[in-house]
Amino acid sequence: MASSPVPDRDAPERARLDFTRRLSYGDYLHLDALLGAHQPVTDAHDEHLFITVHHVSELWLSLVVRELRAAMEQLAAGITDAPLKGLTRVVRAQEQLTAAWEVLKTMTPADYLQFRWAFGEASGFQSAGYRMVEVLLGNRNPTFLKPHAHRPDLYGPLDAALHAPSVYDLTLRLLARRGLPIPAEVLERDLTRPHEAHAGVLEAWLTVYRDPERYWDLYELAEKLLDVEDNFRAWRFNHLTTVERTIGLKRGSGGTSGAGYLRRALEVVLFPELWEVRTHL
Ligand code: HEM
Repeated sequence: MASSPVPDRDAPERARLDFTRRLSYGDYLHLDALLGAHQPVTDAHDEHLFITVHHVSELWLSLVVRELRAAMEQLAAGITDAPLKGLTRVVRAQEQLTAAWEVLKTMTPADYLQFRWAFGEASGFQSAGYRMVEVLLGNRNPTFLKPHAHRPDLYGPLDAALHAPSVYDLTLRLLARRGLPIPAEVLERDLTRPHEAHAGVLEAWLTVYRDPERYWDLYELAEKLLDVEDNFRAWRFNHLTTVERTIGLKRGSGGTSGAGYLRRALEVVLFPELWEVRTHL
């Protein structure tokens, strides 16, 4: 008769149980600081959800910034395969950011109004993490940096990134290094403003897209960048929908028109030629 497996009843006892002198899970992750940062101002049940979704989003944004920066360093060094890994991670993190709206959407306007007064004029508009993602991706406007002028630790890196090439600038420089004719005015553009669609850049991408085998790494990179922009749009659209369900057409806590402002932001195009190239194939 086959003996049945005996459950290991001692397993929990064999686990390390004394952390007087050892680094524990909570110590390593600084969970006291992380969870201690969760400080609702009211007794409203949903303020906890509201803070959690913002905290989680900021953590993902910080990861996105880190991965984008690493990918950009590789692109600047002329490497095309390694950035794909980092950009794929960005794409997956964006999916998590967008999924968070589904949890937040369980909050009704009445739930929200119970604690809305508590955060005054604070708004995601002032998220330094989000602005850094935008600047790195190329959506640039010095005005958006102003809420951080009083915080040199936040403003300094944002301003430095604003004056440095975006992920798309670096990609276009890479194309130029490969002998594709990227116009000089594009390579020497004012970096503090968004890249504007250029027929010469479209021509260069058409060369890549018409011969993927020859330019496989650039082709893959372009499609990965398109994934990033696609997901960025999805996040924006879900934010707008969440805002409309929660506050309707009221002004935003940050002072903008609210849904109207966010709807206009949906028109931003980060990598215009990558979208346009499809029309011409
Ligand atoms: C019910 C929840 C939310 C409402 C009602 C809301 C509302 C708004 C509004 C009206 C704006 C426009 C700026 C203003 O005047 O305030 C805005 C901007 C923004 N919000 Fe939210 N938001 C919510 C949740 C979130 C969450 C969870 C995040 C995650 C980080 C977030 C991130 C942002 C960002 C980054 C902006 C700036 C967008 C841009 O400038 O393009 N929001 N929000």
